[in-house]
Amino acid sequence: MKTKIHSSLRTVEWKNNKVVMIDQTKLPHKLTFVKYEDYKDVANAIKTLVVRGAPAIGVSGVFGLALAALRSKAKTKEKLLEDLEKAKKVLFETRPTAVNLEWGLDKIMKVAKEGRDVSDIKESIIQTAKKMAEDDILTNMIMGKQGAELFENNDTIMTHCNAGALATVGYGTALGVIRATKESGKRIKVIATETRPVMQGSRLTAFELKHDGIDVSLIPDTAVGYAMSKGLVSKVIVGADRILRTGHVYNKIGTYQIALMAQQHKIPFYVAAPLSTFDLKSSPDDVIIEQRKPSEVTEVAGKKTAPDGIGVINPAFDMTPPELVTGIITEAGIAKPPYQESIKKLFESRL
Ligand code: MRU
Repeated sequence: MKTKIHSSLRTVEWKNNKVVMIDQTKLPHKLTFVKYEDYKDVANAIKTLVVRGAPAIGVSGVFGLALAALRSKAKTKEKLLEDLEKAKKVLFETRPTAVNLEWGLDKIMKVAKEGRDVSDIKESIIQTAKKMAEDDILTNMIMGKQGAELFENNDTIMTHCNAGALATVGYGTALGVIRATKESGKRIKVIATETRPVMQGSRLTAFELKHDGIDVSLIPDTAVGYAMSKGLVSKVIVGADRILRTGHVYNKIGTYQIALMAQQHKIPFYVAAPLSTFDLKSSPDDVIIEQRKPSEVTEVAGKKTAPDGIGVINPAFDMTPPELVTGIITEAGIAKPPYQESIKKLFESRL
C-alpha cells in the first residue's frame, strides 16, 4: 500500500465550482478523488458510501445544494427556491439516520430564503457552504482538545467504525480526540474493530491511523469481549450519527454491544460529536434506522459467503441508551449524566 494520507487531507471539498471527494469505496487500496457537477451525483455518492460519516455527509449535502443552486436556470427567486426544495428532497432521502444532513440542508435553505435575488442567493449559498466545511475542521480540533483531557498516558483506546478525518471534512470526531491526545504528548494505543459488514474500521480507521503514525491494532468485532476481559482496553471512544436531548446515542451498528460490554468491565465509554449531531426535537420512536442491502452481509468483497434464499437483517445503526454513556464530548464542552440537564446547558452556553 503506497498511498499516503494525512489527517489534513480533505474528505470533501468545493473546488472550481465542483465538489471533490475522496472515493472511500476504493480505500484502503487506492486513494482516488471523484468530481461532481450535478447534485444528483452527490446524492448517489452519499447513498453508495463514496462519502460517509455524519459530518462528511452533512457537508456533502450542503455542497450538493450549492451545485443545485449554481446549475439552476431559474430567473426568479421563487423558481430558484423551488429548484432548491426539489434538490433538498433528493439529498435528504439518501441516508435517514445521520442528522447532520438535515441540519446542513436546513441551514442552506434558510440562507436561500433570506437572499435578495437569484445571483445573491447563489453567491451566499456557495460562501455559506464553504464556511461550513471550514468550520467542521475547526470544530473537530476544539472538540479534540476538550476530549484529550479525559485520556491518560499509556491508555489503550478502543474505537468502532470510522469517526475520523474520513468521516468529517478533516481531523475527525472520535479520532480527532485521539489525535489531540497524542498531540498533547501522551503515549496512546488504539484498538480498532473491523466493523462488519462494511468494514469502516479495517478499511478506513486502521488506514487513517497508520498513516498518521498512531499505533493501531485491528480486532474482529467478535473479539471486543475478549479484549475487555483481558484488560487490554482502558477507554472506549466512538462518534455518533444522532444524539437526542435525553442522551440516547445513534451510531454504527455494534456500538450498543460495545457499550454494554464496557459497562460490564467498568471501562469508560465516551462519545465525541459536534452540536450539529444533536437532535433536540425527536424521541427514540421517531428515529429511522437505515436498513442496507442484504449483499453487504451475504458477501465479502464481492464473494458470496452465505447461501441464496435466506433472510437478512442489516441495520446500519443502533441506539446506545444514556445509562451506558460516561460522557459526550462536544465543541461546547463535555456533557455528563444526567444528560437531559447537561445537554441543555451546552446549548444554552452557545446562545
Ligand atoms: O455508515 P457510516 O460509515 O456513514 O457510519 C458512520 C458512523 O457510524 C460514524 O461513527 C458516525 O457517522 C460518526 S462520524 C464522525
